[in-house]
Amino acid sequence: MSSQGESALEEARKRLIFALDYDSPGEAETRGREIGPYVGCLKVGLELFIRGGPQIVRTLRAQGAQIFLDLKLHDIAETVDRAVASAAQLGVTYLTLHASGGPRMLERAQARAEKEGGHLKLLAVTVLTSLDAQDLERIGYRADPRAQAERLALLAKEAGLAGLVCSAQEVREIRAVVGPSMLLCTPGIRPTGSDVGDQKRVANPRDALLAGSDLLVVGRPIRDAADPIQAAQGILREMRGALETPRAEA
Ligand code: C5P
Repeated sequence: MSSQGESALEEARKRLIFALDYDSPGEAETRGREIGPYVGCLKVGLELFIRGGPQIVRTLRAQGAQIFLDLKLHDIAETVDRAVASAAQLGVTYLTLHASGGPRMLERAQARAEKEGGHLKLLAVTVLTSLDAQDLERIGYRADPRAQAERLALLAKEAGLAGLVCSAQEVREIRAVVGPSMLLCTPGIRPTGSDVGDQKRVANPRDALLAGSDLLVVGRPIRDAADPIQAAQGILREMRGALETPRAEA
């Protein structure tokens, strides 16, 4: 393989996040150790964090993994500020929070992440992909989901956050709104030919990168594969193809 091909593969690895959605912390630890070397980050979500607590993060860190802590924080600014400090002290690389927590919550969170040394990157969730226009109406939002997502994306940008979580199908529009500097992180990734499961707005790894995603979150296509390492390697190869595609073709 050419050194350009190798560096594109390494670049792909850094951008792939594996969602450690396992029932037990023990299994998450074992699978994290096996699959960790093939991905840039391991995602610890609410369920695993509630079961395994900060210890699961410490254990995975000790195994050499970078951690994406997906807790989607949404609370008063003071509480989120302190939670951000705790995540930074655990050595987490990415932490999610709801942009709808408002400007002060976002600004305090970002200021705290910087005060803690700047290694923690905050990613804002805009509108959950599980909410439709009717749901938004019922919780008192007037805007349609797309307009609301763009509004919240700008709020996160103004607060100086590192990036956003959005579906691969929104990436082009969100990118046009926030510009090139924010990291866009997309779940709902399905390798070509794989099972879609309950995800509705899916994209394959290549299309997600070509649309402008920076980080891809993948769970079940790796977790449920007969050979998870082979599945991760297949995704990396698809990603490498996109990373080697000259910009003009994208
Ligand atoms: O298994 P799958 O690849 O669908 O997992 C994707 C991960 O991304 C899960 O941990 C899920 O909670 C998360 N996620 C998602 N859709 C969103 C936001 C987050 O699937 N809109």
